[in-house]
Parts: sequence; C-alpha cells; structure tokens
Amino acid sequence: MTTTLYVFTGTGNSLAAAELLAQKLGDTVIESIPILMKKAGPVIPDSPKVGFIFPVNYSGLPLILSKFIPRISLSHVSYTFAVATAGGIGRYALLQLDTLLKENGSLLQAGWMVRMVDNYIPYGGAPDDKTQKEILADAERQLSDIADFIQLKKKEMPKFPLMSQILHYSLYPRFIRSLPEIDNRFHVDDTCNGFGICRKVCPADNIRILDERPVWQHHCLFCLACINLCPKEAIQLEEKHRKKRRYRNPSVPLKKLIQIQSGFDNSSDQ
Ligand SMILES: Cc1cc2nc3c(=O)[nH]c(=O)nc-3n(C[C@H](O)[C@H](O)[C@H](O)COP(=O)(O)O)c2cc1C
Ligand code: SF4
Repeated sequence: MTTTLYVFTGTGNSLAAAELLAQKLGDTVIESIPILMKKAGPVIPDSPKVGFIFPVNYSGLPLILSKFIPRISLSHVSYTFAVATAGGIGRYALLQLDTLLKENGSLLQAGWMVRMVDNYIPYGGAPDDKTQKEILADAERQLSDIADFIQLKKKEMPKFPLMSQILHYSLYPRFIRSLPEIDNRFHVDDTCNGFGICRKVCPADNIRILDERPVWQHHCLFCLACINLCPKEAIQLEEKHRKKRRYRNPSVPLKKLIQIQSGFDNSSDQ
C-alpha cells in the first residue's frame, strides 16, 4: 500500500471524505481508529504516506484521535497529512494535531479543512437536501484537489490567525472536561423500538441496551452518531432540540457506519 488513511467519523462525513481520497489516490487502505483503539500495542502503518481524517470538535480534535496519536509509530513514514471535516470553522484542530505528532517524534506536513454538512444538532440541525447537496459537491471538488496535492506530497498548512486560537482555547478545554458527564444530556422517548442501532453506531461502546432502551455509560465522545442515526429519532438532547433535523452523510450507508465502528455488521442482533 502507498497510503494509509486513519479515520474517525460519527455521521459519515469523514468516512465519505476518506473514501473519496482513497478512490482518487489508489493503492490506499482505510483504517478505523475506534477499531484500532480496541486492540493493544503500537500501530505501525505499512505505507510511506499516512493521513488522518476526522471531524472538528469545538475547534479541536476528537478525544479518541488525541489518544490514538501516541500509539502510532511514524518513523518509516515519509509524508503525513490530515483532512479535518467541519461545519465551517475550526482549523486550529490541525495545529493541535501537528503539536501531538511532534510530541510523538513526527509532524504534520500538510493539513486541510473541508467544509461538509454540520452534524452538531445544537447549532441548528442539518440543512435541507438541496443545501446539503451543494455543500457536499463543493467538498468533493476540494477533496479532488487535495488528492492531487497528496500525490505530489505537497507541504501545506493553513494559517492559524489569533482568532482561531482564541476560539479553540475558549471552547475546547471546557468541552473535553465535560465529556465524562456529557451523555447525561441524552434521553430516549417512547418512540424507541429497542433495536439498538445507537449501540451499534457508537464508536466508544458507550451504550448498553437494557429493557429495550439505551443506557449511556459515561465515556461518551459526543460524536452525535446515536442521536443523528437513530431511525426513529427517539434519542433527544434538551427539549428545544427535539425537532432539529438529523443527519447522515448520504453516500455512507448505515451498515458501513456500523462496520467502521465495530468491524463487522451486526445489524441483525441486538
Ligand atoms: C461535538 C461536536 C463539535 C463540533 N464542533 C465543530 C466546530 O467547532 N466547528 C465546525 O465547523 N464544526 C463542528 N462540528 C461539526 C462537525 O465537525 C462536522 O459536521 C463533521 O463533518 C462531522 O463529521 P462526521 O460525519 O465524520 O462525524 C462539531 C460536531 C460535533 C458533534
Ligand atoms: S453515546 Fe452517542 S454521542 Fe456518545 S460516543 Fe456513543 S454514539 Fe457518540
């Protein structure tokens, strides 16, 4: 393999981005960060190019990616890049990744932020289908250019104006501190049919099904997969968000999202 893409996703944007890059680049393998995190030992890529594809969380990195970086050995890798998918802002996440990689003896040679559909329900919910299509078509064009840059091993990092740093430090540390209790914000309503899709799409094994209802286990990543992907829309945050439109990247079937989190399609069991 020439390229390995390490992917974390909640609602499919980052997986769709990785699949598009893999298709354009050829000779590329996609590895799931949640699955690798369930295994012990170091992660040693078998390719000269390595990329990290992930969603921006409060202008920073998803916690699982911060925990993954110290486990990966990049000493044989000649080109390291990242694509952060986001609803619009948060490129500071790329600088955070570069810092973590440097602590691990490597660095980020190129990083891009790609605007995709925002899956963060409290910001307003997903836009209508037409708007989603436009956003994702722009993203596809940008990813196509990024694939060309990766082929050329282009070195390119965005600028990080003071504002991006202020945004990161005013939002991100509080978000990370809130994670151990954050799933107390979820509840399930009477439309829940107990199928347990929420459990299967959870990248953190944070949901148990008890008496045909999800019970959150307090090690949530707040990726919002469970609330966005519940087919009955039975999972709720605060009452004011009940009617907000849910989101799954339209090019990523639910089955694939289950596979990327758990490694197998267990959609017929509970
Ligand atoms: C907890 C959380 C925080 C987020 N923070 C940001 C943010 O700071 N800036 C932004 O542009 N989008 C933000 N988003 C939106 C996601 O980064 C964006 O929709 C991403 O493409 C989702 O990727 P996925 O489908 O691979 O999970 C946030 C989403 C979540 C769930
Ligand atoms: S419980 Fe929901 S929001 Fe938390 S990590 Fe699992 S799927 Fe993501």
